[in-house]
Amino acid sequence: MKDDFLQYQAQTTPRPLALEVSHAKGSFIYDKQGKAHLDFVAGVSACGLGHCHPRVVKAVQEQSEKYLHVMVYGEYIQQPAVAYAKLLASLLPKRLQTTYLVNSGTEAIEGAIKLARRYTERSEIIAAHHAYHGNTMGSLSLMGFEERKSAFRPLLPDVKFIHFNKAQDLTQITEKTAAVVLETIQGGAGFLVPQENYLEHLRQRCDETGTLLILDEIQPGFGRTGKLFAFEHFNCTPDILVMGKGMASGLPVGAFTASNKMMQTLQNNPSLGHITTFGGNAVIAAACLATLKELTENQLIEQTLQKEKLFRSLLVHPLITEIRGKGLMLALILQNAEIANELVLQAAKNRLILFWLLFEPKAVRITPPLTISEDEIRQGCEQIISILEGCTNIPVN
Ligand SMILES: Cc1ncc(COP(=O)(O)O)c(C=O)c1O
Repeated sequence: MKDDFLQYQAQTTPRPLALEVSHAKGSFIYDKQGKAHLDFVAGVSACGLGHCHPRVVKAVQEQSEKYLHVMVYGEYIQQPAVAYAKLLASLLPKRLQTTYLVNSGTEAIEGAIKLARRYTERSEIIAAHHAYHGNTMGSLSLMGFEERKSAFRPLLPDVKFIHFNKAQDLTQITEKTAAVVLETIQGGAGFLVPQENYLEHLRQRCDETGTLLILDEIQPGFGRTGKLFAFEHFNCTPDILVMGKGMASGLPVGAFTASNKMMQTLQNNPSLGHITTFGGNAVIAAACLATLKELTENQLIEQTLQKEKLFRSLLVHPLITEIRGKGLMLALILQNAEIANELVLQAAKNRLILFWLLFEPKAVRITPPLTISEDEIRQGCEQIISILEGCTNIPVN
């Protein structure tokens, strides 16, 4: 199977981890030999409820027996999508009431920037250095990391960059700016949390200049940081909220939400301002609905903060210089990139799943399912500390 995987399936790196998956349940992925791998990554923050949560599986099964796909987005009334958009609206601030369901995070970003341009009739978009918003051409244009995008130029014109958390840069936002797009917590950069009042100042500057604020909650969203959305920690509501990843507990999905008035601009001049065949797909919307109900009907979201405390208390070692992030969106910052790399690879051998971050080579991602138990946290953290003990011969710079 590995040879076929390497030959017939397109690869993104020369050396993929290549775990051959049999099945997955809760906090574990099982390999072909039946061995359990403890998952501290959760499909890169996509499986907030763990693998194959029974409520989600049931919702998918029930919907699959009724219908799968019946029409392109937006024409027919499909109960799961309508019920989901309505429930989401009831949990969001008043200015975020109407949701467009799409197929992935990157498509949601594309939709959000199109909406911002169309609504403001301006073209300039401001993003942040070290930002990651996805990999299609529009989202790639907002990537704040030249090394990964220069090969694909020319990209979108009229995109500028500011430094995340640098208040002085906010003056670059002007009456020409259609939108500022930021991750509420910068992911690929190393799980950078906004500093005190930064997002409030950003909100204020956007209001002064008539610029829309787009917050990308694709990674921190759906409870990962101890609130349903991370912006709720920072007294700052976006004009357009972008979601994905944990939304459907492991099925492909994305969404952007704005006011009903703003969303209406996608209907006219031109009509069909954004269209998609599978956006709002009934099976996936049923999974979204089950996920959101499960998250909000019990204490899972609040518990992420206690679990964060446990991680922080257990992950103490001289090779760990810092633990960044919030809730169960944590990044271990190691003394150097070699140690970080060694930790991920050794953990894989020990059947503990860890992963890298895109632009911070000293970081190791810890984004387990929100359902992870205390015992599982202890088990994985003990493994991390024991691997780091074995890394002490790696020179520290
Ligand atoms: C913050 C952020 N934005 C956008 C994306 C892109 O989402 P997708 O991979 O579903 O297109 C990701 C995915 O990692 C992300 O973390």
